[in-house]
Amino acid sequence: MLITAFPIACRADDRVQVAKGGLEAKLEYCETCHGLSAQGYRGYFPMPRLAGQNTQYIENQLRAFIERRRTNPIMANVAHVLSSSMVSALATHFRRLDPRPIGGAPRGSMATGKRIYEEGLPESNVPACSACHGSDGKGQNEIPRLAGQLYEYTVGQLSGWARVRGQGSAADTSAIMAPTARNMTRPQIEAVAAYVSYLQ
Ligand code: HEC
Ligand code: HEC
Repeated sequence: MLITAFPIACRADDRVQVAKGGLEAKLEYCETCHGLSAQGYRGYFPMPRLAGQNTQYIENQLRAFIERRRTNPIMANVAHVLSSSMVSALATHFRRLDPRPIGGAPRGSMATGKRIYEEGLPESNVPACSACHGSDGKGQNEIPRLAGQLYEYTVGQLSGWARVRGQGSAADTSAIMAPTARNMTRPQIEAVAAYVSYLQ
């Protein structure tokens, strides 16, 4: 597999539908938080990596922020002004980026993390993550890529799942993950978050 250390630039002629200047201005705005090549940023709040993320997942989450099914005041404000063609153009752009994971996660429980990822925790009803997120952590459609995701972000999502996701009255895609997040202990969450953070 060819791994590039630099983001792959998006060709201007691929950005149909949305005026070029409009998309670039928006991208610059997203990059102030999510990082110059959308690799994520370890700030006061961890800013998740968007690079290489599946377009359907990004679109689905932006809708969830707007509808407040996923609570985050920052992203609710960011998302509600985006037109649907802008959302598709942004998602297509991020999907093509491939920066190296930013790393920095503790490596002490990587072997445990790999085992949880590949085999789950049958004694606690936790399925293998790879069954949905793929053995390479790239996910598909509405199932997110976890490869290269920031350790702090993943730990935060899995430990706070029920407080943030699935806040709407009807069940949504977040319900698929709810029992898995609930059934993991903090050390198990940390182990699997460290493991996926290094996947390229
Ligand atoms: C002021 C900072 C900020 C800006 C600007 C910003 N974001 Fe975010 N974004 C965040 C934070 C913080 C989160 C994590 C929210 C959480 O913890 O649930 C996030 C989460 C997301 C997610 C969910 C990622 C996932 O893995 O579930 C998407 C998609 C996203 N942002 C897209 C965008 C896009 C597109 C833009 C530009 C139009 C943008 N963001 C601009 C701070 C920002
Ligand atoms: C049955 C399929 C399935 C399995 C098994 C599964 N997931 Fe998920 N996962 C999903 C779906 C679907 C989502 C998107 C949820 C949403 O829309 O809010 C998700 C979302 C996530 C997220 C949020 C990512 C982000 O960018 O915010 C994390 C972290 C995650 N899963 C980790 C795991 C881990 C770790 C395991 C194994 C212990 C696992 N998942 C097992 C389907 C699955």
